[in-house]
Amino acid sequence: MSQPVSKNIFWHHGKLDAQTREEKLKQKGAVVWLTGLSASGKSTVAREVELALVSNGINAYVLDGDNIRHGLNNNLGFSPADRTENIRRIGEVSKLFCESNVVAITAFISPYKADRDLVRKLVPEGRFFEILCDTPIDICEQRDPKGLYKKAKAGEIKEFTGISAPYEAPEKAELVLKTGTETLEESTRRVLNLLAEKGII
Ligand code: ADX
Repeated sequence: MSQPVSKNIFWHHGKLDAQTREEKLKQKGAVVWLTGLSASGKSTVAREVELALVSNGINAYVLDGDNIRHGLNNNLGFSPADRTENIRRIGEVSKLFCESNVVAITAFISPYKADRDLVRKLVPEGRFFEILCDTPIDICEQRDPKGLYKKAKAGEIKEFTGISAPYEAPEKAELVLKTGTETLEESTRRVLNLLAEKGII
């Protein structure tokens, strides 16, 4: 982790430890980290899992790449350094959600393994779930809901993931969703089952 540039700053501890917070709030925080190509289904799965959790009284919240790039990260583009900073910031935000007993569900391409591994280290052991939305690129290209693959192939968008920028798939994801073939209901159920098996919900 990089060191703060500020000097003379001190860490303040609150009056609640993590265990007391969980007992009082009756909820565990976690980070459900969806990764995959553009149009692989990350946001769709994220929204469905969020709906299922909240409908069951569990506080869950989606952090979505396209949305976050309109606000918190509106000064970042798609160069390797900017993508790394995008993921670093969202890693820190999702850590805060997790510490405040919310299930953060993130939907970012997050193409670099090293960036995802850094986020994993930020979050307490057993609370980070890396989930690959494993849709083959030809299916993502057929879906192309925003017309971006077409533009990338025509050279109108530079550094487009899968076309002119890399995607490093996880080797040891907690779950691999076959988002090209399985139904949304199946993918959602598999994420919920994982959270139940691991004692989060
Ligand atoms: S990440 O690589 O930094 O994790 P992020 O998930 O925030 O990316 O944003 C990806 C979204 O931005 C895509 O779903 C797509 O809609 C849009 N986008 C625009 N330009 C690019 C690009 N060059 N590469 C990938 N996605 C892009």
